[in-house]
Amino acid sequence: MTPKITLKLDANELPFEESLESRREEFPSLLTASLNRYPDANASALCTHYASFQGVADSNIIAGNGSDEVLDLIYKAFTTQGDTIVSLEPSFVMYGMMAKLFKCRYVGVPISHDQNIQVDVFIEAITTHKPRLVFICNPNNPTGALIQKEDLYKILEATSGLVIVDEAYSEFICDGYQEYSLIDSIGKFKNLIVLKTLSKAYGLAGLRIGFGLANEELIKALYSVKYPYNISLLSQNIALTLINEDFMSRLNDNRLCIINEREKLYNKLESLKYVTPYPSSANFIWLEVNTQVIDLSTFSEALKNSGIAIRQFDKGELKSFLRVTLGTPQENELFFDTFKTLLEEGTA
Ligand SMILES: Cc1ncc(COP(=O)(O)O)c(C=O)c1O
Repeated sequence: MTPKITLKLDANELPFEESLESRREEFPSLLTASLNRYPDANASALCTHYASFQGVADSNIIAGNGSDEVLDLIYKAFTTQGDTIVSLEPSFVMYGMMAKLFKCRYVGVPISHDQNIQVDVFIEAITTHKPRLVFICNPNNPTGALIQKEDLYKILEATSGLVIVDEAYSEFICDGYQEYSLIDSIGKFKNLIVLKTLSKAYGLAGLRIGFGLANEELIKALYSVKYPYNISLLSQNIALTLINEDFMSRLNDNRLCIINEREKLYNKLESLKYVTPYPSSANFIWLEVNTQVIDLSTFSEALKNSGIAIRQFDKGELKSFLRVTLGTPQENELFFDTFKTLLEEGTA
């Protein structure tokens, strides 16, 4: 029988419950919505709302059914079969999966042993492979490493291809996370697309809403391959109603709580034998396990049997790594205690 998962720390979601039940009075528009009608084809009101929050014009934004859809639109609009795509290795799996789907050649440039990007090596790979698309996830999923703005500028200048900076986790970097964003550079770099999502720090993964931000020409190209009505009426209405001042202040509290929890859990993990956590700027921690001492598949099985789901990687060189998403303070405590006990049992 498959064990029941009671602690879900495998998908980098926000752990704080967000339900319509608790916010009934804010949603009269859901009850009166005309479900026999199609929604706004381009989620225009939502785009305007989010664009003004990010300080860009309506012509600089497109909404997707999750940022996964924006990734798909990027491949559709800008690649042809046989094009080369460059990203970090490891990074978000969808970049490579989509390259396969669109019959492109995917080159993953390994990160250094301390799990950071080696900018010179990365730029060398760009110069060699002349990619059509370059994907940089910042902070990087799954390693949590942060790439500095100056390095991103160097990468943007080193290629004539498009550079997609995926800022899915940027709200978790630090208190003043906006400083690290490249949204303010979309006017300057003609080859830059920034990806954002409501699935992570906003805690709205169930709505499936993400955005692409870029100059007008690139956004027009993305619109030209987008199906109409890609975001449901209910998702548009809920996001528009929810994202108000009150929500933004809760978002701030939530992300600061996660940043604080990250520090706490990192320090605790660092005290354990046979485990090396890496510094993270996201809502998860990347861990290396000494597989000479710990049998990772037995250990992961035991963790699962305790009802805890974290992310394990089965690819060759990643086999000794785990990624754990931060939960609520109580969940993180439960995770750590269980993790520690099983580790001790595994090395007894
Ligand atoms: C780096 C990164 N980009 C994009 C996504 C997709 O997010 P969305 O839910 O907006 O499709 C994820 C989801 O895990 C992610 O890790």
